[in-house]
Amino acid sequence: MRAMLLTRHGELDALVFESAWPTPQPGPGEVVIRVDACAINNTDINTRVGWYAQGDDNGAWGEPLRFPIIQGADVCGVIAAVGEGVPHERVGERVVIDPWVRDPVAPDDLDRAGYVGSELNGGYADYLAVPAINAYGISARLSAVQLASFATSAGTALDMLRRAKVEPGERVLITGASGGVGSYAVQLARAFGAIPVGVCDPSKASLVREFGAVETIDRAADPTALEPFDVAVDVVGGPQWSSLLLALRRGGRYVVAGAIGGPIVELDLRTLYLNDLVLIGATITEPTVFAELVELIERDVIKPVVAATFALEQVYDAQRMFVEKQFVGKIVLDLAGR
Ligand SMILES: NC(=O)c1ccc[n+]([C@@H]2O[C@H](COP(=O)([O-])OP(=O)(O)OC[C@H]3O[C@@H](n4cnc5c(N)ncnc54)[C@H](OP(=O)(O)O)[C@@H]3O)[C@@H](O)[C@H]2O)c1
Repeated sequence: MRAMLLTRHGELDALVFESAWPTPQPGPGEVVIRVDACAINNTDINTRVGWYAQGDDNGAWGEPLRFPIIQGADVCGVIAAVGEGVPHERVGERVVIDPWVRDPVAPDDLDRAGYVGSELNGGYADYLAVPAINAYGISARLSAVQLASFATSAGTALDMLRRAKVEPGERVLITGASGGVGSYAVQLARAFGAIPVGVCDPSKASLVREFGAVETIDRAADPTALEPFDVAVDVVGGPQWSSLLLALRRGGRYVVAGAIGGPIVELDLRTLYLNDLVLIGATITEPTVFAELVELIERDVIKPVVAATFALEQVYDAQRMFVEKQFVGKIVLDLAGR
């Protein structure tokens, strides 16, 4: 099969295209999926360059990576083969995958969870093998490219809104609102009856309002000038971070899943305790989150936001466009035209 291998931590040349890489076989309880589309995420870049390193030298977010690895978490495809214990009727089923693979013996032990494309091979290839339980059948009338746009970004957005317990009528400030997580967070917050305000570049503001933001503000602007927020949904961090906390009402909730603007921020503890704020970190989602996401897609509650598509062999071009951030939504590899 074709596969884009990550051979080491490094720049784009650490990704090496192979035209005849061994096709995976399904182990017990697994399915092998023919990949029709796979979206690009910051984790692909962060993992490649070793951004997640925190004092150690492995550069991954958990166990050191075992190179070569095939990246790509957000897969839509068709089940091509099933392993022992998986009903044969699943062959031919169109699926999207929950990228969080949990330990079958201890599914609640988050330390044992792995991510597709990081701890196990992902969708930058014609085929991948995942536990059958991670492959969710989907019948929505969307293209494979559209369906591949959801998993990581919309799954994270949904997880953040659920963890922060966003209620109808609440004002929700969303950073990175033109990006993958942010654009889906805007849609979902609106669908849940909340009042989303998006922080984004002014050139992208009209699209962010189309997704459902009642208002947008420039990322350089001060959110404390607006009416206080109940919740801040943050994937940016960076120099403006402390203004997000100051923009919350007393008892407000701050939930974070990313730090694309800079991971080291300054916290005045008085802001936190004098205002009874709640800080929430979000990464590994409960399995119920992906099941709910699939249901929201099927019910057309959330719509795909695809900015561009590339062929598998064009991963370099796709990732260059991705890091330049002059787009709104997701960039997706389209493998169906193989
Ligand atoms: N914890 C998890 O499970 C999880 C899951 C998904 C993503 N993440 C993380 O969340 C962050 C956002 O992910 P995403 O997929 O939504 O990203 P994305 O699609 O690349 O969008 C990020 C947005 O952030 C804005 N931004 C603000 N400051 C920026 C800066 N200094 N550099 C670049 N962009 C900046 C940009 O919008 P404007 O140009 O409009 O300002 C951009 O559209 C990343 O750090 C990612 O690694 C974490």
